[in-house]
Amino acid sequence: MTAVTGALLAEPDVTTFRTAMGRFPTGVTLLTQGSGEDTIVMTLNSLTSVSLDPLLLLVSVKADGRMLPRISRAGSFVVNVLTEPQRDLAQEFCRPDRPEGHAAMLRLAAEEGVTGNAVLPTAEAYFECLVDAEYRAGDHTLLIGRVVALGQNTTASDPLLFHRGRFGRLPAEPTAEAA
Ligand SMILES: Cc1cc2nc3c(=O)[nH]c(=O)nc-3n(C[C@H](O)[C@H](O)[C@H](O)COP(=O)(O)O)c2cc1C
Repeated sequence: MTAVTGALLAEPDVTTFRTAMGRFPTGVTLLTQGSGEDTIVMTLNSLTSVSLDPLLLLVSVKADGRMLPRISRAGSFVVNVLTEPQRDLAQEFCRPDRPEGHAAMLRLAAEEGVTGNAVLPTAEAYFECLVDAEYRAGDHTLLIGRVVALGQNTTASDPLLFHRGRFGRLPAEPTAEAA
């Protein structure tokens, strides 16, 4: 491995940090709040499992964006883990002009979950959460969600991935003959 030396001594800049973090591959989700005419949605990859007892997860949400005040006020949200065929949704719902309200529900073929928020029955999995805690961290806010309901796809898994600024998929598993 090369080119780490100088970076250890100097304070890294934003571009270097983003590029380096981009080397950490993640899944991709849609964060949803509200349903029907109140639906708001955002592409998010900062999902982390936190605790099994109680069931807690964490998402990091831009502090001055549209999602955070809505989630803080309502006290709940849903994280929907996307499949590779849902790549278009990930690209659409990170834009400033992304659909909201009924248009978003229709685009996602979403249903109202038990927390009153939009869930995607076609997602790899979804986690319905009540806000357990909020921690301001720089220009983002860490939301700890207590998972009160979840769903998962029972068919073969083909999750959407994000790596080095690009969407991708897991390589196909080798067939028995090729292995
Ligand atoms: C792959 C991907 C992952 C993202 N992950 C996050 C995230 O974890 N947290 C976040 O606040 N924004 C994330 N974003 C950016 C949001 O989707 C969105 O563009 C941004 O927060 C816009 O906020 P606003 O329109 O509500 O102001 C991600 C975007 C992409 C393309």
